[in-house]
This record gives sequence, structure tokens and C-alpha cells, in this order.
Amino acid sequence: MINYTEKIPNNVDLGRDRVLQRALEHWQPAYMGWWYDMGPNESHNYEVYLRTATSVEPDGWAQFGYVKMPDYRWGIFLQPRDEKREVNFGIHKGQPAWQEVPGEYRSTLRRVIVTQGDTEPASVEQQRMLGSSCPSMYDLRNIFQVNVEEGRHLWAMVYLLHRYFGRDGREEAESLLARRSGDADNPRILGAFNEATPDWLAFYMFTFFTDRDGKFQLCALAESGFDPLARTCRFMLTEEAHHMFVGETGISRIIQRTCEVMKENKVADASDVRGLGVIDLPTIQRYLNFHYSVTLDLYGSDVSSNAANYYTSGLKGRFRETKLDDDHVLTNAEYPVFEVVGGKIVTKNVPALTGLNERLRDDYIDEIADGVGRWQRVIDSAGIPFRLTLPHKGFHREIGNFAGHFISPDGEVLSEEAWKNHEFEWLPNSKDYAYVQSLMSGRVVEPGKFANWIAPPARGINNQPLNFEYVRFN
Ligand SMILES: [Fe+2]
Ligand SMILES: [Fe+2]
Repeated sequence: MINYTEKIPNNVDLGRDRVLQRALEHWQPAYMGWWYDMGPNESHNYEVYLRTATSVEPDGWAQFGYVKMPDYRWGIFLQPRDEKREVNFGIHKGQPAWQEVPGEYRSTLRRVIVTQGDTEPASVEQQRMLGSSCPSMYDLRNIFQVNVEEGRHLWAMVYLLHRYFGRDGREEAESLLARRSGDADNPRILGAFNEATPDWLAFYMFTFFTDRDGKFQLCALAESGFDPLARTCRFMLTEEAHHMFVGETGISRIIQRTCEVMKENKVADASDVRGLGVIDLPTIQRYLNFHYSVTLDLYGSDVSSNAANYYTSGLKGRFRETKLDDDHVLTNAEYPVFEVVGGKIVTKNVPALTGLNERLRDDYIDEIADGVGRWQRVIDSAGIPFRLTLPHKGFHREIGNFAGHFISPDGEVLSEEAWKNHEFEWLPNSKDYAYVQSLMSGRVVEPGKFANWIAPPARGINNQPLNFEYVRFN
């Protein structure tokens, strides 16, 4: 029997909710089984300097201290309720926000929650082997922080399934622990979450690009008329910010280190750069192209009646919905999408409702472009003439209007053959992966020490020094 308030910090009155307790009594041991199997490899005895959310108060969501990860207190938190909140868009606009699941939207909502929930354990599975090749104790602590918080995000979605969806919800919660990233028979639901994260360059790219897809999906769900979902997602966003920070600063530190070494040694050629044990900029560009394009697919088809229905029903809004200045119903509005017609990319206006996936993808791209601009400044301030670019939106896409077309990073429509001739100039090839992984053959864990291929961060976690013992190995 679990002592709920002790073991599962929450603001959902779990101690008094018998139905929810019974559901969690079954699920919690299965979750722990999953964590032991699929959580970070060989980490169960480590004491890690982690933040834990113990309440939604400003001082409660980031309590720092040493924790063994299996003892992490995966809590259930919703942003406090606003009694006056309404459904802010779609045909139910102006009604009080729903506190229970509207019957007609039950299966749709369940699917939305399951799809989001499935990504959370997936990324933990994708990253589970990376601890053995970490570039520092600081970075090791950060990946573990991301992993336990993805675990908590799974709890957040499972809470909704258990609390609001009865028996079907409980079955879905079990399936979330049964699927496995990359498994041939029972894979995770979305493509990018079945790709390997084979090394730390891929990990930082993943947290920059793919966790940011998570942010945009959560932002859209945080607008939901179904209030418990909205409030859950709002709180998850507080944690997501750190994941994207880990990605952005990770790549930035790799670029910084590469540029330092290039300058010191006066080399520019990629093979000379590799000879000095750092990651050449063209390889970084290829990883960027891969993670960006694979993540763009997560937004779904450019023209989507599902997206229109989610919006019209009030289930999933737009990025910053309530800040947008329009009618929030969109029956007469249009939105531009790309199409490939006769070997050319053309723009076509579609009803704004069916273009909502594309719109969210575009909001995401704006933010990505800013981040890539910040990486570029690191290169510029080292005085190195190299430009990191975002490939064209249509490059290497498998979902939507570009699927089945062969678009170069510059946005040229090519034949399959012409595209394949350049594939491995544009995307990481087996030699790139082998080289990057050769740099990461062991872990660097002496406090304050960093692998040669990455610069130290500007500061430590929670104002601790860089040589702080972020992880104690037992
Ligand atoms: Fe997450
Ligand atoms: Fe995340």
C-alpha cells in the first residue's frame, strides 16, 4: 500500500480519491518495472543532484537534492484552476471550460492524450544508453533530469487517463508501458520517437528540436477546453524549458569548442578538424538537417481534417491562442501551405481550419530559426566563415505535401536519383556516426572535467560550481 501524499506529491487530492488510488496501485509497480528495464542504464544506485517538483508554488516546483532515480517522487501536478476559465475557441467558444470529458469527444480526447503520453517514455528509451559516454558529470546529471521529468510527464498523462477515462483509460495506460521505441512489433506511435539517439550530438539535437515539438504540442493542448488537460500541460511546460536549454546549450558548447580548436590550430578542413578530436561543423549541419526534418513530420499533414476537428471541437488550440487577435472560430479564414506541382513548389491557400498543423509547424520553425541564429553567432564571433542553415521545410519529409518528393536543402525539387546522389552530403552518413561515436567511447565523470569535444557551460546547475559532484556513483 502506497502512502500517497508522501510518495506521490500531488495537488489533485490523491489521498482522498479511492478510484484513482486503485488504478495507480496497479500501474505504479508496472511503471517501476518499466523504469528498471528501460530507464537510464546501470543508474539505479547513483545519487543524482536532481530537482523534484513537490508543489506548484514558485518555490515548490524545483526542489534540489540528491536522489536515487528509482526513488524519484514522480508527482501529479496541474496548474491551479481558474474558476472563470472558458472554452476559448471553436464552436463551444464562451462556454465554461469543461471539468469532465464531453461524451461526444471522449475517444478523440483519449487519442490526443495517448499520443502525447507515448512520446514521454519513448524518449527515455531512446536515451537510455547515453550515460556510459557522457562528456561530464554536469551533462550526466542533465540527461538524468530530462529522463525523470519525461517519466513525470508520462505520469501526468496517465493521471488524466485514470481519472477521466475509466477502464479504457487504464488499458491505454498499460499500453504506454508496453510499447518500445524502435521495436518492430510494438513501436512507439510517432516516427521520430522510434529513431535511435546514438550519441550525445544526437541527444542535444533531439532536446533542441524534438523536445521543442513537445513544447508546441503542449502549448496547443494547454489551450484545450478540457480544463484538466490544459492545466496539466501548463505545468509540464515549466519542465520542458530545461530540456530545450540542455539541447541548445549542448550544441552551442560543441560549436564553441570546435571553433576554438579550429582557430588555435588554424585549420578549416573537416578532416583536419576531426584529426584534432572535435566535431567538424559540416557534421553538425548534417545532424541538424536530420533532426529538424524528422521533427517537422511530427506536426502531421499540412492539410488535415483531424486538426480542423480538434480545433472546432475546442480540444486543441493554436500556439498562444488567447493572445491572437481574431474570431477564434476561423470559419472564413485561410492559411498558406506548400504543394509540389509539376516539379515546382507552389503556395496554395487552404481553409485555416485544415491548415492548423502547418500553422503550428510554422510557429515552431520561427522559434527554431532564432535558436540556430544564436548558434551562428558563436561561429561568427570566432571569425569562422561557416553558415549553419535550416534546410527547406520540404527537405527529407515523409508526412504531408512533401512526402514522396525529393527536395534539396535549398528547396529545389529533384529526381529521386539526383537526391540520392547527395543524400549523405545532407544527412549524417555512417562515417559521421562512427566518428562522433569514436569521440564518446567512454564517460568523463571527474568533477569539473569535460570531454575534449565540448566546452564547459557558462555556469553550473542551481548556482553550484562546475566542479560540483552532480552525480555520486555508489
Ligand atoms: Fe515531456
Ligand atoms: Fe521534454
